Amino acid sequence: EGGRIAWVGSAADAEKRLSGRNIPQRAMPESNGGFASPPARPATADPLPVVEQGAERRDETRPTDVTVVDAGGKAVIPGFVDSHTHIVFGGDRADEFEARMAGTPYAAGGIRRTVAATRAASDDELRRRLAGFVAELRAQGTTTFEIKTGYGLTVEDEARLARLAAEVTPEVTFLGAHVVPAEFADRRDDYVDLVCGEMMHAVAPHSRWVDVFCERGAFDPGESRRVLTAGIAHGLEARVHGNQLGSGDGVQLAVAVGAASVDHCTYLDDADVAALAGSHTVATLLPGVEFSTRQPYPDARRLLDAGVTVAIASDCNPGSSFTSSMPLMIALAVREMGMTTAEAVWAATAGGATALRRNDIGAIAPGRRADLVLLDAPTRTHLAYRPGVPLIAAVWKDGIAG
Ligand code: NIG
Ligand code: FE
Repeated sequence: EGGRIAWVGSAADAEKRLSGRNIPQRAMPESNGGFASPPARPATADPLPVVEQGAERRDETRPTDVTVVDAGGKAVIPGFVDSHTHIVFGGDRADEFEARMAGTPYAAGGIRRTVAATRAASDDELRRRLAGFVAELRAQGTTTFEIKTGYGLTVEDEARLARLAAEVTPEVTFLGAHVVPAEFADRRDDYVDLVCGEMMHAVAPHSRWVDVFCERGAFDPGESRRVLTAGIAHGLEARVHGNQLGSGDGVQLAVAVGAASVDHCTYLDDADVAALAGSHTVATLLPGVEFSTRQPYPDARRLLDAGVTVAIASDCNPGSSFTSSMPLMIALAVREMGMTTAEAVWAATAGGATALRRNDIGAIAPGRRADLVLLDAPTRTHLAYRPGVPLIAAVWKDGIAG
């Protein structure tokens, strides 16, 4: 019965009782790499476990010290799992956004501007900024988030970013292979050697994941495979940025190395879709990028119909998607990517958990962490139906409100 929360009664004093601090919790590992196979996909059935509604029956089995919260007829969903962010950085690139809206295409080279600003920032500046993003995430219902390095690109700076990220999440990803930094422009092989050697050695102890930006203008498939293989040899698990700016080998590489997830998936051919469908690699779609770069949205319907496990995430970063809002991702997924609201909410919760190989989060069920969101709305449909409206009424992480 551990971790179970009863939602009963009538609305009157719900606000006063939202503290939830005495909710019994079951000890769960911080992260769990043992996801043998992906959970069932929400093809037809309603994927979201529903909070029990039969108060009387539940009362018979309920632990006596459980906190009872009245949801007042509002919807309760699992906390969002944002499996892809880049939220340790300095500066911003609002000027690039303005230029894109006026027709300039997105270019990965802008990453180097954020690298310069990040290197120039002190630990405390970065920590303060990061704390702001963490608060933003939580206020919007995100209870688990991943963070990538990738704006340091020196041994010291990548290790620094990983350490700062590890202060706020167990899901830290080493992305030394984000772009080749300016000082290695003429010796990219040396940079890949550094990433796979000394940098990996310094950052892996603070990380769970290794990632690479496998894309024209970043790292080619051979370089990308080297980075992922080196990471796996250092005990990290793989994830990949692929097929964002054009078709390419990112998806095939991710599947070949057994990556947990390949993220973006904007430009896919039939072989990519088939490879994903026959794998345990999640396709993580990042519609904030298409919103902010004016590229075509990825076709989630095509992936779901082929049997691919789909997650959605914010990709919060100062270049391609400067939003931390999972409700916005859900609205975009429904409006622009052919997902039902049920599929989009699943992708933002259980899908993200699958992409992080976590089976302790992402659903409301016995044995899972009590990571819950109370919506200021009667159904989850309102997340897409009322875009841009702050509908997150309360958030619990591990049963603790706030
Ligand atoms: O996921 N694609 C590579 N990295 C980020 C963008 C980073 C940036 O532009 O600063 C992304 O979109
Ligand atoms: Fe990214």
